[in-house]
Amino acid sequence: MENENIILIGFMGVGKGTVARALVKQSNYFAVDTDDLIESLENKKIKKIFEENGEPYFRALEKKCALWCENNITGSIISTGGGFYKQENIKKIGKIIYLQSTFEKILGGIHNSPNAKKKLKKRPLLSNLDEAKKIYNQRVKEYEEVSDIIINVEDWDENKAVKNILDALKK
Ligand code: S3P
Repeated sequence: MENENIILIGFMGVGKGTVARALVKQSNYFAVDTDDLIESLENKKIKKIFEENGEPYFRALEKKCALWCENNITGSIISTGGGFYKQENIKKIGKIIYLQSTFEKILGGIHNSPNAKKKLKKRPLLSNLDEAKKIYNQRVKEYEEVSDIIINVEDWDENKAVKNILDALKK
């Protein structure tokens, strides 16, 4: 379907935003990010929302955001927070692409990035790595199950990821 959205899901720090931006450069798509929408709505960073309002409040905003995306967005790339895949209506929003990598590679990539500190700081659920690994292990199967297309991004090559996504969408 031409107007179908593409939803990028996957674990924190796997590169959903980076891949979305690269996809925009190499296609006619425009992109939005669910965490950015929530931050602008609340005029607060995700980290602050978690600290001041708690995770359930954030998840309720994610739900509102998911309903809004379903009713108002077409033909776009939607990059999402790592827990957004749990939204009941996600299948109705568009085609779901899971960016897949191992926990170790995701963390390695964050640590190798020039703004590693910032990337870790802004993600409350990455503050305890044992807990984060548990979350990863809980979610990994669910990411696979909900997705329409799985793209391996272990090598952090965004151009290859974009090519693989565009090829998979043509099929
Ligand atoms: C979360 C991932 C974050 C953000 C929030 C919760 C999660 O987004 O939505 O901190 O539950 O995995 P990123 O995947 O962009 O880090």
